[in-house]
Amino acid sequence: MTSTATLRRDAPAAASASASAPGAAEIAIDNASKVFGTGEGAVVALEDVSVAIPGGQFVCLLGPSGCGKSTLLNAIAGFSPLTGGAIRMAGRPVTEPGPDRGMVFQEYALFPWMTVEQNIRFGLDIKGLARGEADAIVARIAGTLGLSDFLGRFPKDLSGGMRQRVAIARILALDPPVMLMDEPFGALDALTRRTLQDELLRIWAEYRKTIVFVTHSIEEAIYLADRIVVLTYRPGRMKRDLIVPLSRPRDTASTEFNALKRELAALVMEEQQRYTRAEMTGTAVD
Ligand SMILES: Nc1ncnc2c1ncn2[C@@H]1O[C@H](COP(=O)(O)OP(=O)(O)OP(=O)(O)O)[C@@H](O)[C@H]1O
Ligand SMILES: [Mg+2]
Repeated sequence: MTSTATLRRDAPAAASASASAPGAAEIAIDNASKVFGTGEGAVVALEDVSVAIPGGQFVCLLGPSGCGKSTLLNAIAGFSPLTGGAIRMAGRPVTEPGPDRGMVFQEYALFPWMTVEQNIRFGLDIKGLARGEADAIVARIAGTLGLSDFLGRFPKDLSGGMRQRVAIARILALDPPVMLMDEPFGALDALTRRTLQDELLRIWAEYRKTIVFVTHSIEEAIYLADRIVVLTYRPGRMKRDLIVPLSRPRDTASTEFNALKRELAALVMEEQQRYTRAEMTGTAVD
C-alpha cells in the first residue's frame, strides 16, 4: 500500500452526517465552535468542527499545543459549553457532564487521601450501589488493571503508571459507554506508556467502549486509533479526518506504520510551525 493511498482513506463523509439513522453516531459533533473571551482579547479555540463518532470507535484528536484538543474534549464531557454548534450523545444534546461519559486526565485526578480501593469505589458509592455489588465491581476492575495487590495503598505511594491505572479503573468501574482521555499517558516514560497503551487497547476491545483520546504524539495516535482527527492551530479546525488502515497489533517498525507517521508528521508540523510563529511574535496565549 502506498502512503498516499493511506491518507486518502479519509473517514467516510457519511460519518459526519445525520445522527438519527440506525447505527448512527454515538457522539455527534456538529459545527462545534468555541470562543474564549470577547472583543480584542477573544480567542477562537474551535471553529466549525464536525465529527460523527460511531459507538465503539477509538478516535484520537491530534495536533500541536493550543489547537483546541482539550477544548473539544471538555465540550464533549459537558464541562465547558460550546459558543456555537452542538454536541449530541446518542441523539441527546450535551449540556452537562453525565454518567454516559467518563474522563481521564493527564494529571492523575485521584483523591490523595483515599486508598486505591476507595478511589475506585468512590463513584459506585455515589451511585448508591449495594456494598456487595460495589465490592464485586472493584475486585473485577482492579483485577483487569493489575491493581489487586495495591488496593490498600495511597496514590502517593504509587508510580505514575500505577496512578494512571487507578484513574482508568475509577472510570471503568462506572462503566460509561464513552471514555474521554486527555493526554493520559503524556507524563509517563516510554515503556510504561507502551504498556498502558496495550492495556487500554485490551480494555477497549473487552469492554467495547467508545474512546476519544487526545494526544500530541503521532506514534501514539497511529498505534491506538481507528481514526485520527487532526486539528489546525488556532482556530482549531478540522485539518484531516482519516481512518487508520492498519490491523492490530500494530508494528511501529513496519513500513506502513512509518509511511503514515511521516505523512501525519508533515500535517502536524505545518500547524506546529504556526504555533511557533505565534509564540515568537507573542500572539500565542498558551
Ligand atoms: N479558559 C480559557 N480562556 C482563554 N483561552 C483559553 C482557555 N482555555 C483554552 N484557551 C485557549 O484556547 C486554545 C485551545 O486550547 P486547548 O487547551 O484546547 O488546546 P490543546 O490543543 O489542548 O493544547 P495542549 O496540547 O497544550 O493541551 C488555546 O489558544 C488556549 O490558550
Ligand atoms: Mg490540552
